[in-house]
Amino acid sequence: MSKIIIPETMIEAKGIVKRFNVGCENELEILHGIDLNVKKGEFVSIVGTSGSGKSTLMNIIGLLDKPTEGSYLLDGVDVCKAGDKELSHIRNKKIGFVFQTYNLIARTSALKNVELPMLYAKVSAKERKERALELLELVEMKERVGHTPDELSGGQKQRVAIARALVNHPSIILADEPTGALDSSTGRKIMDLFHKLHEEQGITIVFITHSPELAKETERILTLKDGSFIDERMGIKYAS
Ligand SMILES: Nc1ncnc2c1ncn2[C@@H]1O[C@H](COP(=O)(O)OP(=O)(O)OP(=O)(O)O)[C@@H](O)[C@H]1O
Ligand SMILES: [Mg+2]
Repeated sequence: MSKIIIPETMIEAKGIVKRFNVGCENELEILHGIDLNVKKGEFVSIVGTSGSGKSTLMNIIGLLDKPTEGSYLLDGVDVCKAGDKELSHIRNKKIGFVFQTYNLIARTSALKNVELPMLYAKVSAKERKERALELLELVEMKERVGHTPDELSGGQKQRVAIARALVNHPSIILADEPTGALDSSTGRKIMDLFHKLHEEQGITIVFITHSPELAKETERILTLKDGSFIDERMGIKYAS
């Protein structure tokens, strides 16, 4: 008898509401009760016009902000019940962030930028350096480990940021328009790197993009409009 395999869930968010300026005259509801389920190992994209709430949702998924209402289990942990210290620990251990603007530390080498999250995770100096070099090699940046961000191109900076996102063996990568500031051929290479991480390491990826073409390469595309999901479809390769 064949065994039914129930996929494990990485993100299970229900009824997520986000309001800003709660209780003030300018109170604003940005997310209106979002349900989001992402399986372990899934590569999902979120698309939607500017201002539709993508980054607001990403900040909640990434534990950088709290929902006003709703429940959220990340890798089986009820993060709504966690205190600030526990939240930053979970964030550092489980989530790798990649942003459009790279968010690298200026005047600090690529190597030290990649080592930084491991410093917070109290990894030894020797292991920090070894792991950082290994990841910089994975993203094809080994030749430039001593360069500071202002000595690197946009695509190179994003490679360093991706290496940094991977250092603590995250369960999930959250990428908010990672190719948004790059020309199309550099963006293509960064996208190929995400595919490689997904296919070879089985890493879960939530990918926000303005590019419908890139979104179609992912397994599932969710469309956000004015703070609600209005559409869900399979990526081209995955549609039956
Ligand atoms: N801290 C805040 N206080 C008040 N309003 C906010 C705050 N953060 C975001 N917003 C509002 O929430 C809405 C959604 O913003 P968000 O950044 O999530 O959009 P987005 O879909 O990521 O857009 P883009 O594609 O331009 O990055 C916007 O109208 C924005 O002005
Ligand atoms: Mg945004």
